[in-house]
Amino acid sequence: MKKLTLWALLLAFCMPAHAVTPYQMSDSWEQISIYDVKNPTDLFGEDWAALAAGNAESMNAMTIGWGQFGTLWQRPVVTVYVAPERYTNEFMDRSEYFTVTAFPKDKKDSLLYIGTHSGRDEDKLKKAGLTPEFTPLGNPIFKEATLAIECKILYKEPLKFYLMPEKTREFYNERKITPHIQYIGEVINVWQKSQ
Ligand SMILES: Cc1cc2nc3c(=O)[nH]c(=O)nc-3n(C[C@H](O)[C@H](O)[C@H](O)COP(=O)(O)O)c2cc1C
Repeated sequence: MKKLTLWALLLAFCMPAHAVTPYQMSDSWEQISIYDVKNPTDLFGEDWAALAAGNAESMNAMTIGWGQFGTLWQRPVVTVYVAPERYTNEFMDRSEYFTVTAFPKDKKDSLLYIGTHSGRDEDKLKKAGLTPEFTPLGNPIFKEATLAIECKILYKEPLKFYLMPEKTREFYNERKITPHIQYIGEVINVWQKSQ
């Protein structure tokens, strides 16, 4: 035991002070308040976003067009909707956190790619030219993004088919997908690119 402690101490002294942990984010990110996010409604409408969950060992992400910013239980929240069939849902289901990232307009092709291919079948993030980085809490965001919102899951529930308007039921029937799962996440951190 004494020997082990000595080795640990020796190792700690030999590590360079700037040693990079696997969770380090690049310097170009700066932390901002959720209330300073510009045009938040565009994120889920026109501009699209990436929803990611997992960690440095295993993660996945997909494009989302549905979601909201809001307030619940006196907390700032982001709500997203994930079809249970998505590979990303497996990560959402076992994660405490998720992230929503926004990209510059010239990355729309990348978002189209990860929104039409599954991480189950291929390394789609690499093919889409997206580079995962990890927050200090270990959650995935992307080097190419301009805004990253880190959320802690507060509540999740599948949308109920029988409570939906008739037209919306048709949407699910035509696509043969199960109703989306609503994930409400408390906003824990928001970063934007400084330049
Ligand atoms: C513009 C756009 C918006 C999308 N929005 C959502 C969404 O809000 N929720 C959802 O479950 N799927 C959405 N999708 C579909 C998923 O991104 C798509 O099925 C993806 O391939 C799933 O990948 P995965 O299997 O790796 O998780 C959207 C796709 C696109 C192109």
